[in-house]
Amino acid sequence: MNKTATDYNKELPIGVFDSGVGGLTVLKALTMRLPHERFLYLGDCARLPYGTKSSGTVTRYALQAASVLASRGVKLMVIACNTASATALDAVREAHPGIPVVGVVEPGAQTACRATRSGRIAVIATESTIRGRAYHEAILALRPDAEVTGHPCPLFVSLAEEGWHTGDIAEAVAARYLDPVFNTPDAPDTLVLGCTHFPLLRQAIGNVINPEAVIVDSARTTAHSVCLQLDELAMNTANTTPGQVSFLTTDDAARFARTGEGFLGRGIAEADVELVDL
Ligand code: DGL
Repeated sequence: MNKTATDYNKELPIGVFDSGVGGLTVLKALTMRLPHERFLYLGDCARLPYGTKSSGTVTRYALQAASVLASRGVKLMVIACNTASATALDAVREAHPGIPVVGVVEPGAQTACRATRSGRIAVIATESTIRGRAYHEAILALRPDAEVTGHPCPLFVSLAEEGWHTGDIAEAVAARYLDPVFNTPDAPDTLVLGCTHFPLLRQAIGNVINPEAVIVDSARTTAHSVCLQLDELAMNTANTTPGQVSFLTTDDAARFARTGEGFLGRGIAEADVELVDL
């Protein structure tokens, strides 16, 4: 039987990009849900962090990253970075109308709305994500009576990068950020981890907040969303062997491989990481 253009497209990789290695938490969730798909991951490590930058700068960076993935050929794009999803999702969709683009904010908001009983939802993220109020808007669009509060937790990014995601220091920082949020009579019952790096601190965060509060990790919910999109578009690969994962970075490949391992949960060979210029 002749292969159609759709058959070839189905076998293209899924492109994933982030400001650095943090988005590997999303890639990890994606590869667990879609083990036969190929993935092309781009980490813009040279320009990390995005979370402290203006929306204009983040949008420019996101468009450049998306162009590199599109030029390599991808069948779907995931903006794994919360800051870039919050700021540049529409701009990336407009720039690449032929490629479905999935961000991490919408799936996180949907899960939070399903999880909450009281309607009180706290979002923790980078300064830029909180300032842009994308999670607020996405949650309120689904549940207009929700009470959403946003709390920047920038130090969590450094702790995760440093590999200090459990133990006394991580818990002390988590308590400093989250005690004022949870030690109140109207405490939220749901906490959204609105940053790629925060799933690594899940245990430390869980140890300092109300144990009954639900922690929403946008990595898993995004993977679920990508599965639904592929099913809807009938774009699942026909491959039945483990899919290949390739990495691009804008800075030192050795550092990417070394720091990325903790986020991806498995080793990354330096030889599998290609240096690119955006
Ligand atoms: N990837 C970013 C995010 O999810 C965190 C790191 C950064 O600030 O670039 O918001």
